[in-house]
Amino acid sequence: MTGLVDRYGRVHRDLRISLTDRCSLRCTYCMPEDGVPWLAKDNILTTDELERLARVAAGLGVTEVRLTGGEPLLRRDVVDVVRRMAAIEGEDGPLEVSLTTNGLRLPELAVPLREAGLARMNISIDTLRPERFLRLTRRDRLDDVLAGIRAAIDAGFAPVKLNAVAMRGENDDELADLLAYAVSIGAELRFIEQMPLDAGHVWSRVQMVEADEILAALGERFELTPVGERGAAPAERWLVDGGPATVGVIASVTRPFCGACDRVRITADGQFRNCLFARTEDDLLSPLRSGAGDEVLAAIMRRSIGGKLAGHGIDDPGFLQPDRPMSAIGG
Ligand code: GTP
Ligand code: 5AD
Ligand code: SF4
Repeated sequence: MTGLVDRYGRVHRDLRISLTDRCSLRCTYCMPEDGVPWLAKDNILTTDELERLARVAAGLGVTEVRLTGGEPLLRRDVVDVVRRMAAIEGEDGPLEVSLTTNGLRLPELAVPLREAGLARMNISIDTLRPERFLRLTRRDRLDDVLAGIRAAIDAGFAPVKLNAVAMRGENDDELADLLAYAVSIGAELRFIEQMPLDAGHVWSRVQMVEADEILAALGERFELTPVGERGAAPAERWLVDGGPATVGVIASVTRPFCGACDRVRITADGQFRNCLFARTEDDLLSPLRSGAGDEVLAAIMRRSIGGKLAGHGIDDPGFLQPDRPMSAIGG
């Protein structure tokens, strides 16, 4: 089988699979207090179906799978999902399985996940101040996230990566504090430019905290030295005060990395997306459930990649935010 190569020559090796659209937090930039209309339970991929799709993707050259959500650790059988994904053979050996989480369930799950073969872990933390955490996530659970981060480090994930979305008037005055915390625990912090993927469609390009501002704020307290090329990774990285600590900035908006994109996505309800910002999806769920063979599923993935656009077009005049919010796409 030929791989997932698009008309710009981009080879897609990184599959992001959303395990659920539900979440235990209600980050204001992502979900309203009451949540969003959830995906129908019957349409959520079963673990057998997840495994099958990952296996088909591995046959097309995918070598890495990242499990996302919503909050992926809300899925009851997440440890089993990891174990089964990590047993799939790709071109370079078993798939590398990673996870992006809000951290709340890590105190009990970090060790089982590691034992199941999870290779890498990214945890979201946008503020270190309890009252801000409550306002931003609508849940008073900062201590639980901090305990989760500690549990991930204690379980041997190295480096644990932390994600902080930079937000004007919310956490833009504590960016250096966040970095000091990450350095103190040996984690790699990545600051993220907010993208237009919020459920409320209130994102504003003018309000967005840009990478240059983030770097200027950090530069007041730390000496930053660029680290090599980022390749297909979204984060540009810097050594902090000469290293070994590093910090990343994911500047999807002001420094897009679409030209090197190697990512494809499958939503929790089995829709294949060729881009975070794709306006169309290709249904894998119906063919899966009506007995389609692997080659049919592979053909759907390949056809989708054939239609992938050059970039997200956020700065284009006619840009339209995807209909699904981030929580339902899987980040
Ligand atoms: P690593 O493999 O550790 O580099 O993971 P990652 O940084 O790609 O994944 P993570 O889930 O931690 O996402 C961090 C941020 O990058 C989030 O805001 C994601 O939405 C964003 N991101 C991840 N993949 C893409 C992508 O393909 N395009 C864009 N524009 N943003 C992405
Ligand atoms: N733009 C950028 N990053 C976002 N995240 C959630 N919503 C957005 C957005 N609109 C982040 C989360 C998490 C990661 C998966 O994506 O904070 O760290
Ligand atoms: Fe790839 Fe789309 Fe992300 Fe650009 S926005 S890097 S094309 S997934």
